[in-house]
Amino acid sequence: MPQQLTQSDIEEIFPEILEISDEKLRLGVGRIWCEVAAEMAWSDLHDIPKNTSAEKHRSLVGHVRGVTQMAIQICEIARTMHGRSYDRDLLVDACLLHDVSKAVESEPLPDSGVDSAGEAKPLPGQSSALGRNVPHAVYATHKIFAHGLPVELAHLVATHTHSSNVRGRTWEASALFYADFADSDAARSMVGGKMFSERWHLG
Ligand SMILES: [Fe+2]
Repeated sequence: MPQQLTQSDIEEIFPEILEISDEKLRLGVGRIWCEVAAEMAWSDLHDIPKNTSAEKHRSLVGHVRGVTQMAIQICEIARTMHGRSYDRDLLVDACLLHDVSKAVESEPLPDSGVDSAGEAKPLPGQSSALGRNVPHAVYATHKIFAHGLPVELAHLVATHTHSSNVRGRTWEASALFYADFADSDAARSMVGGKMFSERWHLG
């Protein structure tokens, strides 16, 4: 059963959203997460695993928050150490939305049948028809355009994954890309999983 959420619910789940000063961008993140939550097969955002394979033990919400905080730190260190400026609103917006479509690219296993009791715990999941048939992040990118948000934001979200045949062309896209892998590898290395760094391929 989908979940009905409000902007303030999203602010509670993803407190990093309050870092976004531009109102249109900030509300856009909340509206897109609310919309996707109302469309998903999960009954609670906290039930969604980061993926259905090597990181099924951890929550998507925890991953999105970790990526956001890591990307901010990457950009802040580059700014203070090297004078590399960045668009903070755009970065935080993109980090919070980069995996929003995972909520509908996966679904609970039919026999998991457990409603969340408010505890942060991912449930067993599988790919949905959307996840099997449409590359990751395409639906998130569609939502960004549907909400009239900037193409620069769509670029960051669309290029964060190797599913895209366009690579990130801005510093913010790069910071999101590496923060995503860093957060994933931190979790994978804790359970003996194969890290992205071990599979690195430069084409
Ligand atoms: Fe991610």
